[in-house]
Amino acid sequence: MKKPIIVSGIQPTGRLHLGNYLGALKNFVALQNSGKYNCIFFIADYHSLTINFDPKEKQQQIYNLVNAYLSAGLDPKKSLLFTQSQAPDCTELAWILNTITPIGELERMTQYKDKAQENKQNINAGLFTYPALMAADIIMYDAAFVPVGEDQVQHLEFTRTLARKFNNKFGKTFIEPQPILTKTARLMSLNDPEKKMSKSIPNGCLFLNDSPAEIEKKIKTAVTDSGSEIKYDAQNKPGISNLLDIYSALTEKSVAEIENKYKDKNYGQFKTDLAQIAIKALEPFRSKKIPDSKIKTLLSASAKKAQKLSSAKMKEVKNKLGLPN
Ligand code: TRP
Repeated sequence: MKKPIIVSGIQPTGRLHLGNYLGALKNFVALQNSGKYNCIFFIADYHSLTINFDPKEKQQQIYNLVNAYLSAGLDPKKSLLFTQSQAPDCTELAWILNTITPIGELERMTQYKDKAQENKQNINAGLFTYPALMAADIIMYDAAFVPVGEDQVQHLEFTRTLARKFNNKFGKTFIEPQPILTKTARLMSLNDPEKKMSKSIPNGCLFLNDSPAEIEKKIKTAVTDSGSEIKYDAQNKPGISNLLDIYSALTEKSVAEIENKYKDKNYGQFKTDLAQIAIKALEPFRSKKIPDSKIKTLLSASAKKAQKLSSAKMKEVKNKLGLPN
């Protein structure tokens, strides 16, 4: 029996943080290591061009993301890891998908609305048709499952609709993929637990390559709530609840177990322990540095493998559409 295929991607946009690890990378590696799937992971560099960027930084951002994938435990012998721009058939398929995408569907996408709102100076057509490229990334490789966060569920629903529409119009060609939702709670900023952890608030954000001293300082100065009990209560104690989520995700212990362990302890003790746990968990991201030349070789070899898969699919697509090939 052929194993079901998993596809997912991450945009190279800046420094990676704990949310990227717990929400994506860690799950990707677990799925790879389960042995139950053929895994395809990529770097969505074409998607990342839809927001303002500095070309001088792009390549380093891509290499840093490859480094993070590998440090997290992704094994290029087991999983395919490549960049979209080096396997560009996806853009050809995205064009075709654009021609069956109603504009109204794109206008409903909350990520588009949010990003357009955040960046009024640069509401480009790429940002608008972003979901068609994402759909192409997925259905190109016959993905059955797509591990994503909650924020991408709407794009996945859109992908399913497009796959179905194409199949109905032109004959069965694509699989309708299912999301695999990450279990980790959304991480909040350490110094403002009402806001999402993000690189735009650096002091409240644990970056994957922070030094041990930085990790310790950020956790020790994390906002906690009045009172002294280590008790989960997202409503009234968002600070300690966020730290409990992080502790739980890093140790794979349940929140109840952790609460029990700290029932007679104070915030100080809890934070000291959590800092040590985070320092240890992020160690691979500090120590493993793959040389650029190795990454370059890996990416060009894997892009060839990806193109091999996609060119077979594009042939089938073009046949269905009556295009020469
Ligand atoms: N849109 C995704 C994000 O921002 C990245 C992405 C692009 C993706 N193509 C994909 C994720 C295909 C899963 C599958 O997180």
